[in-house]
Amino acid sequence: MCGIIGYVGSADANTPDAIDILLDGLSELEYRGYDSAGVALANAELDVYKSEGELEELVSSLSVSELREPGVGIGHTRWSTHGPPTDTNAHPHTDDSGRVAVVHNGIIENYQTLRDELTAEGVTFESETDTEVVPYLISLYLESAENADGVRSDGGSIVYERAFRRAIDRIEGSYAIAAVFEGDETIYATRKESPLVLGIEENGDGRAGDADGQSTGAEGGYYLASDVPAFIEHTDRVVYLEDEEFVRLNGEGYEVSDEDGTTIEKTVKTVDFDAEDTGKSGYDHHMLKEVHEQPSALRQCLRGRVDELAGTVTLEELDTFVEQEFAAPIEFVACGTSYHAALYGASLLQQRGIHATATIASEYTTDRVPVDDDTLVVGITQSGETADTLRALREANRAGGTTLAVTNTVGSSAARACDHALYIRAGPEIGVAATKTFASQQLTLLVLSAAVSSQISHDEIQSLRRVPDQVRTILETTSAREVAEELVGSDAFFFIGRGLHYPVALEGALKFKEITYEHAEGFAAGELKHGPLALVTENTPVFAVVTGDGQTARKTISNIKEVEARDAPVVVVTDGASDVERYADYVLGIPETNERCAAVLANVQLQLIAYWVANTMGRSIDKPRNLAKSVTVE
Ligand code: F6R
Repeated sequence: MCGIIGYVGSADANTPDAIDILLDGLSELEYRGYDSAGVALANAELDVYKSEGELEELVSSLSVSELREPGVGIGHTRWSTHGPPTDTNAHPHTDDSGRVAVVHNGIIENYQTLRDELTAEGVTFESETDTEVVPYLISLYLESAENADGVRSDGGSIVYERAFRRAIDRIEGSYAIAAVFEGDETIYATRKESPLVLGIEENGDGRAGDADGQSTGAEGGYYLASDVPAFIEHTDRVVYLEDEEFVRLNGEGYEVSDEDGTTIEKTVKTVDFDAEDTGKSGYDHHMLKEVHEQPSALRQCLRGRVDELAGTVTLEELDTFVEQEFAAPIEFVACGTSYHAALYGASLLQQRGIHATATIASEYTTDRVPVDDDTLVVGITQSGETADTLRALREANRAGGTTLAVTNTVGSSAARACDHALYIRAGPEIGVAATKTFASQQLTLLVLSAAVSSQISHDEIQSLRRVPDQVRTILETTSAREVAEELVGSDAFFFIGRGLHYPVALEGALKFKEITYEHAEGFAAGELKHGPLALVTENTPVFAVVTGDGQTARKTISNIKEVEARDAPVVVVTDGASDVERYADYVLGIPETNERCAAVLANVQLQLIAYWVANTMGRSIDKPRNLAKSVTVE
């Protein structure tokens, strides 16, 4: 959801043209979801270009060859919140003199007050955005700051920084903001509850080198972005900004400081994925690639955590946990797909006799779900940046609970906001629809539930270890494409499951609606007869997940008979342990395993169904309409 890129070439290096870096960076951020894009280049003059629609629209609206200059620039992909996607509402925004340009992610909550105040000062706003108040505030403070000129340690003028800081001081809400000024080859930026990361490029290729604090100016260039993929092609050395930290980047280096302007020594970290990880590797879509990456992602997720010989599971990130924190009530909070993982995780713990619940993060308050010193609140968020989940975790923290982030993103806001972090290790996921991260969340929660309850049998360990290979078998043998092609064009699509397969049914339906734009609903299998059965016709396929041959399977088979009697096409996802195939029009097989692991395997077949229906319908699979990868507003 919205993406920022900024670039400053090092004064000492042969640097590429800023426009190329900005456009490449924006294209790497496309996965976050956006509906307009823009760039501002700050050399002797400030040039701003922006356009509604896809990045290609922006590229075709500017004459890139004329913009070829090394130097300084910022870029933005916007996902509309205040005002529709139009050229005018696109970022960067400037003041009317055009001497400052600003890009912003997040929401300025007091923007109406600021807008009224600035209007009274004579400002006429062009856009409907909350962001446009920022360049005007900066401009206002620039005028007063100019009377108190001064020189920075790197030789630049301090008036710009002063004006930027004063403007930020007026803003309430969540933000990552970057600004550039006419005639000042510097980027000023700050963040609060919205991610910003610096990329530090060495001379040459930006890989390896000292990892100690402030720069010396010897690097090839400095990047600023909402997420590492925006610059990973150039460098894997990063500095994560914390809330309310400011950064100044120019050809001489970068400096991070706090609200009072005191310099902060930051650690330069090396991230462990490279440009190859964010490409499509020959697949038509990132989503399909990521579905096929699941065996290796799951293997990575288990690495070092499961010891077959000793019969133990270990989560080294949680070594600092005291036992009592694990025994306490456990409340999961999450959104969307991650909420389905949370439901699955809560059921796993309940099965092991531990009190656990899952709440949609945007519905979570500590009044509704009381927290005391004994409560462990677990936020599940692959991005680690989802505003609803972050708010819930912060509220739980304030109420005295212990918090744990289960996330894919090292250094993310959730990882930093929580007392503890547990990583799902799925690697970068670019497709907006979460696939491998969901599977990795499921597997991480399986390991977590075993670690929490100190219960895991030898059989269970073996089942866990087999999951990656079993997923590979599914990918190699699936008939999901043929089934999808048969059923495309149906009126609606329903997904049912019981117990641990209920969250899988919900996830199957979410994935399906997200990328096909068709009506799809997931139900607890037993709920069909309490209402949804009225929707079932011969033109509404029902996907049912049935594994094992126990009571859960038998009851789900009864529910399948109910839909079969209404002539609905039935697709079963099954391990073949029961006689459910007798009632099915189509069968999607999974290898036999226990119910816990079967929930991971069954989901893979449903991901593929969603993918192939969407593909047959020619949908925009990696960037579904209206959706964003990282949802940084509440
Ligand atoms: C659906 C999807 C979303 C996310 C949700 C939470 O495919 O990706 O429903 O699961 O926006 O995102 P995270 O996990 O980043 O908190």
